[in-house]
Amino acid sequence: MSKAWWQKNSQEIPKIVVPPPGPKSKAMHANTSRYFRGLSSQVKLFPVCFDKGYGITITDVDGNTYLDFSSGIYVASLGHGHPRIAAAIAHWAERLMNCHDFTTPVKAALVEKLATILPENLHAMQFYSDGASAVEAGLRAARAISGKHEFISCYQDFHGKSMGAVSCARMTRGDVLSYGPSRVPGFYMVPRPDPYRPLFCKSDGTIDTDAFIDFYKTFIREGTVGNVAAFVLEPAQGWAGSIFPPDDFFPKLSRLCHEEGVLLFDDEILAGMGRTGEWLCLDHWKTVPDIVTFGKSFGNGFPVTAMIVKKEYADALDKISASSSYGGNPMACAAALASLQVIEEENILENVRCVGRYFMRRMKKMQADHAIIGDVKGKGFLLGIELVKDKKSKEPFDKAGKLVYQYAFQNGLAWIPAGHILRMSPPLIMNEKYAALGMDIIEDAITNVERELGY
Ligand SMILES: Cc1ncc(COP(=O)(O)O)c(C=O)c1O
Repeated sequence: MSKAWWQKNSQEIPKIVVPPPGPKSKAMHANTSRYFRGLSSQVKLFPVCFDKGYGITITDVDGNTYLDFSSGIYVASLGHGHPRIAAAIAHWAERLMNCHDFTTPVKAALVEKLATILPENLHAMQFYSDGASAVEAGLRAARAISGKHEFISCYQDFHGKSMGAVSCARMTRGDVLSYGPSRVPGFYMVPRPDPYRPLFCKSDGTIDTDAFIDFYKTFIREGTVGNVAAFVLEPAQGWAGSIFPPDDFFPKLSRLCHEEGVLLFDDEILAGMGRTGEWLCLDHWKTVPDIVTFGKSFGNGFPVTAMIVKKEYADALDKISASSSYGGNPMACAAALASLQVIEEENILENVRCVGRYFMRRMKKMQADHAIIGDVKGKGFLLGIELVKDKKSKEPFDKAGKLVYQYAFQNGLAWIPAGHILRMSPPLIMNEKYAALGMDIIEDAITNVERELGY
């Protein structure tokens, strides 16, 4: 079998030449932090400075090369420096930077391509340059379609940091979301099924999705003023720690939305475009939403996102004047088009399904072998390991989460913390050899932290 493009550069992965964060990283970070604030915990817990990336690796300014288990933040999904995608962006950077929302050949090709990969009637679209803007546009579209103004979202969901998006998200974290006078009026939150921590259970202890659906039905009727435009939710909760609902949840929710005249707004900014082994995560459950947003993997790191509604709702995009300054610029369309072509031509969805099965097998084995792994979860390359103090009480183990994150990073794994849930989103091009290498680093970190914390 011929080698993938990123394997042609034979390099040691990972390669730690100076204990990280090294002296150059430390100095650069300290200087920059005098001006640049508001960093994520991903950076605060491991303040390294990056210089370049290649394929499934990322290299810091001290010359340490890490195995990439984060894709930035679920973004550079086809690897850093993909030659095809880089060339497509460069071509349009030289040729045409911006022409507002006029049609261009590359936009024409992109919308045609999307029409071939999305469910048949999900066809009226607009592009943006970040996830929150796409979500805001989706909320406006939902109002225009339905003539209603209320929204229901789920505990622990995340949809971005603009006012409407924040109103659909959990607000318990004082560092990000809780300042100001709460949600925009008319935005409500309800619990959603987490198989590891189920709120509603059947008598045999298993999760009861019907009870959740019944509760939503009552809530729509009793907890709102009867003007619910849309149910807005992530197909799998990314920020909350890669939490997937039971398989029967979305088909049942879709039916309920239909019966109650509520639109189903599926925010796939994080989970969409191949990350779970299907183009859309909802494809796993054969459910077609009324509104969908996706981004992150869409342009492989170039800022491009999409908001799409069903064909019969296309007029709503005119009503909300959906365009923006940067949305759908030629470079963005080129990055997205090239990314979709690469996913097809390099058979990426199949790779994600296949290596994703390896990840799950390996994580289940680790769960059986380690006292502090309460749960493992995921589909494809959207993965989580939940750390607990005790498997019976399931008490979250934040301290262990932080230590495991830092220990693995020191040993060459660039990845993502989420309190007590360790999150992994490797580039979708990764093969089993490097998937196993990354899991070895994580398992070694867990073993060491267990020892340090007396387990
Ligand atoms: C599900 C979801 N929606 C929206 C957003 C917001 O995207 P952005 O950070 O590009 O505004 C995110 C970001 O992580 C997300 O995970």
